[in-house]
Amino acid sequence: MKRIWIKDISMYDGKEIEIRGWLYNKRSSGKVKFVIFRDGTGYLQGVMLKNNISDKYFDLFDELNIETSVIAKGSIHEDKRAPGGYEMSINYIEIIGKANEYPISKKEHGVSFLMANRHLWIRSKKQTAILRIRSEVINASRDFLNKRGFTLVDAPIFTPAACEGTTTLFKVDYFGDDAFLSQSGQLYNEAAVMALGNVYCFGPSFRAEKSKTRRHVTEFWQVEPEMAYADVNDAMNVAEDMLVYIIESVIKYREKDLENVGREISILKKCTKPFSRITYTEAVDIIKSKGVDFKWGEDFGAPHEEIIALHFDKPVFIYKYPVEVKAFYMKRDPDNEKLVLGFDLLAPEGYGEIVGGGQREENYNTLVNRIEESNLPLDAFKWYLDLRKYGSIPHSGFGLGIERTVRWICKLHHIRETSAFPRTLERIYP
Ligand code: 4AD
Ligand code: MG
Repeated sequence: MKRIWIKDISMYDGKEIEIRGWLYNKRSSGKVKFVIFRDGTGYLQGVMLKNNISDKYFDLFDELNIETSVIAKGSIHEDKRAPGGYEMSINYIEIIGKANEYPISKKEHGVSFLMANRHLWIRSKKQTAILRIRSEVINASRDFLNKRGFTLVDAPIFTPAACEGTTTLFKVDYFGDDAFLSQSGQLYNEAAVMALGNVYCFGPSFRAEKSKTRRHVTEFWQVEPEMAYADVNDAMNVAEDMLVYIIESVIKYREKDLENVGREISILKKCTKPFSRITYTEAVDIIKSKGVDFKWGEDFGAPHEEIIALHFDKPVFIYKYPVEVKAFYMKRDPDNEKLVLGFDLLAPEGYGEIVGGGQREENYNTLVNRIEESNLPLDAFKWYLDLRKYGSIPHSGFGLGIERTVRWICKLHHIRETSAFPRTLERIYP
């Protein structure tokens, strides 16, 4: 008998098949027992009729607790009333692993209980939908870059210096020396772009974010493309194309999952090219026009980004930020020394930054000054400065945060649900 995945069930109408999964739910009305199986790819209703199945199987019903692992065999037929549209007439059932008093029930649980049981919580319908959408976001972003001829180069996780400021570094003992968990693969991408042309890295980034927010985790994943002979506009063009590609792929392959997380697809469908591009200064004007006090030169906080993001019904780019609010490696605007050619891409519906990037400073002396002004150790950046000594070129890139992007695409309240095992200020278990 053929073992199949539930997602493929429609191909087996009228056939005898086997499924392997877990018990999701059950109900009984005397001689008819209904069970719902899940196998990670879908849900399937099975029916056991007292007269059609041997007693030894029929009687197993009582032991089929929620999350019991089971193998079931039977014939498939269309049934409009069943979830998923098909039903299995069960003629064989076998318990593989018992489950007694599964702690997560269908009733409401508090967040801290669910987070403490995250290893089990991820089995729920909404959580599996989110994780599949995350998988698609990652696939799509890499697929996009691969098709465009970018080469994947993995950046190291143990690093000798800060990329994104020293306040969020995780320090680790590296055989008696200090090392830091990578905040971004960007600096290594900049070396790789000189070797291979357009490149990207994909991996985890770490930030010791000491504030509790709904959009920060301490461990997150970034897709970071870096482009040779490219300016800030080129980088925004790629970011725009990439996000559109990601959204289209999620809608195309994960429509059912979007439905299961309660996402209104029409809003995502509106996110077509082009996205608006406004300067930091224009963004400040928008904030002020809403009667909110804001001083030019400060960084935007979540509430400010929310105001700007709500002003547009698509993602929006903000570029040309004040020097002080961005990292040391950003290229100054040749038309205004107070600005750098960095950009952020904000997601609509008030979600805020999902991409950060810009053009890199390519001049050796300017970069030395920027490192010194930022009180960073020149020694640790000697190799990075070499890139400006031997055939420096204009180059640009960005990092798209996977968790932030998934949070917006799924319209989630909190970022913690976008990773299987999120790491936050207050939690490292399970
Ligand atoms: O804006 P960031 O700090 O930019 C960089 O790291 C650049 N070096 C990337 C590059 O140019 N190659 O971070 C990039 C993105 C943010 O836009 C956000 O989506 C995500 O990474 N991010 C976080 N996501 C979750 N939790 C955090 N604490 C995050 N910090 C940044
Ligand atoms: Mg940023």
